[in-house]
Amino acid sequence: MATTPSNLIDGKAFAARVRDGVAADVTKLKSRGITPGLAVVIVGEDPASQVYVRNKVRQTAEVGMHSVHHEFPANTSQEDLVAKVRELNADNNINGILVQLPLPKHIDEVAVIETIAPEKDVDGFHVINTGLLATGGEGMVPCTPLGCLLMLKDRLGDLSGKKAVVVGRSNIVGKPMAQLLLDANCTVTIAHSRTRDLPGEVRAADIVVAAVGRPEMIKGDWIKEGAAVIDVGINRIDAPELGEGKTRLVGDVDFNGAAPHAGAITPVPGGVGPMTIACLLKNTVTAACRQNNIDPNAL
Ligand code: GUN
Repeated sequence: MATTPSNLIDGKAFAARVRDGVAADVTKLKSRGITPGLAVVIVGEDPASQVYVRNKVRQTAEVGMHSVHHEFPANTSQEDLVAKVRELNADNNINGILVQLPLPKHIDEVAVIETIAPEKDVDGFHVINTGLLATGGEGMVPCTPLGCLLMLKDRLGDLSGKKAVVVGRSNIVGKPMAQLLLDANCTVTIAHSRTRDLPGEVRAADIVVAAVGRPEMIKGDWIKEGAAVIDVGINRIDAPELGEGKTRLVGDVDFNGAAPHAGAITPVPGGVGPMTIACLLKNTVTAACRQNNIDPNAL
């Protein structure tokens, strides 16, 4: 078996540990008569979304939670989707609601997300939750940045005073990631497509979180010696070296160039990806606890 380089962060193994913790929490909640429930809603037949949703539904059941799954055709009206979300808001067996994005173009995503009861918004996308995150309140935190933070804290311990650069400013990853790093007392820079000297910003950073969605954009020689590199990107590129018509997955970081410099680095695949669903399960337990006036940290 190939040995794992000591700087590699194994997201698959870490996610399995998080899921074990969630399963143990679910067992404790069940002994108190509470079975956490997650509803996943998907509209349309986007193949990537279908794979994500199938994995979410399966893993929810595997940790012992109540798992429900609602599929709607692509031509579903916004009204019907909103009615389903309202029904789930009122359902006491459901603690978490996730509407898989993207939604078909005729549906206003923001309007649908804002219909989800904030305490059941396990994606952390509702404006109430983004507002709570920005103001140090107790809301639901988006799953992917939460997974990145857990991996960083596991490797580095206290993040206080570290220089962090987040490359990308999406509502789903970049902005909440920057907020979480700021809350962890990092000095945070958010870089993006208009940043003047991206290599310079990355070279100054002890922590690099790449979430731009551009294959291997962050070059190896931009990485400061010993920096922690978290690669959120999942990009499929042509791989003629593997044979005609073949493709492979790469991150936003040139992994082979960066790994010799990094103190810790996540691979793609097998890094951040598995952590996203693990954190969704964790958020569902958190939501179930809060809805039952239980401190999730004191289970
Ligand atoms: N589509 C891609 N990632 C996500 C996610 O984290 N949550 C939802 N709801 N949809 C997504």
